Amino acid sequence: MKRVGVAILGLGTVGGGTYRIITEHRDFYKKTQDIDLEVECVLELNKDRIAALGIPEEKVAANIAEVVSNPGVDIVVEVIGGVGVARTFVQAALSAGKSVVTSNKELIAKYSYELEKIARHKNCGLYYEASCVGGVPIIRTLLDGLQANNILSMMGIVNGTTNYILDKMTNEGASYADVLKQAQALGYAELNPTADVEGFDSTYKLSILSSMAFHTKIPYTKIYREGITQITQEDIAYGKELGYVIKLLAIGKQTPAGIEVRVHPTYVRAGHPLASVNDAFNAVFITGDAVGDIMLYGRGAGDLPTGSAIVSDVIYAATHSDIKYSTFKNTANADKETKFVSNFSSAYYLRVTVCDKVGVLAKISNIFARRNVSVCEMIQKDNEEDGKATLIFITHETREQNIRNAVAKISALEDVAQVNSVIRVVS
Ligand code: HSE
Repeated sequence: MKRVGVAILGLGTVGGGTYRIITEHRDFYKKTQDIDLEVECVLELNKDRIAALGIPEEKVAANIAEVVSNPGVDIVVEVIGGVGVARTFVQAALSAGKSVVTSNKELIAKYSYELEKIARHKNCGLYYEASCVGGVPIIRTLLDGLQANNILSMMGIVNGTTNYILDKMTNEGASYADVLKQAQALGYAELNPTADVEGFDSTYKLSILSSMAFHTKIPYTKIYREGITQITQEDIAYGKELGYVIKLLAIGKQTPAGIEVRVHPTYVRAGHPLASVNDAFNAVFITGDAVGDIMLYGRGAGDLPTGSAIVSDVIYAATHSDIKYSTFKNTANADKETKFVSNFSSAYYLRVTVCDKVGVLAKISNIFARRNVSVCEMIQKDNEEDGKATLIFITHETREQNIRNAVAKISALEDVAQVNSVIRVVS
């Protein structure tokens, strides 16, 4: 039976889960995979983490050079995160001819082209199922399960922290600030939550997934990004009244004019499968030209779910002599022939505070009409105390630029106090 030695770089949550899965399933993999998978060594500075997992001292490497020069290491798992040492360590492992498995979305979104180049040159693999949507096998699905299809679109809830925050704001009526504190106490959100709440994490994941889905390099810098920090209880409540929930969606679409890639809070109709993805769960809703709609759902983070994706990649690398690389030309930038659409098409929700006077609504309607924006639904809430009224509009599909122009004109009207919110809608 083939023995396969694994090195784990970093024993945080995911590294610990990976260590446990490999160790506890060793006999199972002998039986089911015909391999003897063993953790050959770990690289971790925190002695408490090593002790907590009961890892014997002889398995603790002193530095990366020791790991990559160890002939007993076949596959290196990088679960450190970030693009500092993680990048250097992955480069070192690939340069030494070791296949690498990583959960690092930022590393893959930013540097997969340079890392894959080394991997191809050294004839070793670079696998990153765990970088997107944790335990959900989305990358393998795109590469192996859906390759018959031209993928027309994907819409994903690919960040658990923001989904948790929006879910609690929606179902418990809590404020953004309070839920964020709760999410930090539970360990979902980092002390510095920017990467999650401002949408960067989702942007890295969408860059990886849409490159695979559309078979062309989609740099993360091409993705339009808005986070969830401006979402208020009012917008959640009005959305509910109109039959929508707010989700942070990562959207990739092929259109006749080019590719749309965007991450932003979105109203989703209550009956849509993505609307019932609650708590810190993730899901990706994909439309292929042959398969139609499918949705993958599961845990996007955590020690064992993400460890599941890591170890599945390790097993793939250990049991396949053919190496799977990207299905697109993996370059630093997009191909010249790839067109990106920024004036994308969507329905919109607008919340506007106005002086409750005769003619205001007519002026707003006129602005909409001149910019080819058609209103689908509207509600008005009067505030008798200050003579103001809140107008909520849901439009039919229109172009982003039409809405931006309309919002600029509406904001400038004398009787309009403020355009409070503009949120995109999928029906
Ligand atoms: N911070 C991520 C999330 C976890 O909240 O989904 C791993 O990508």
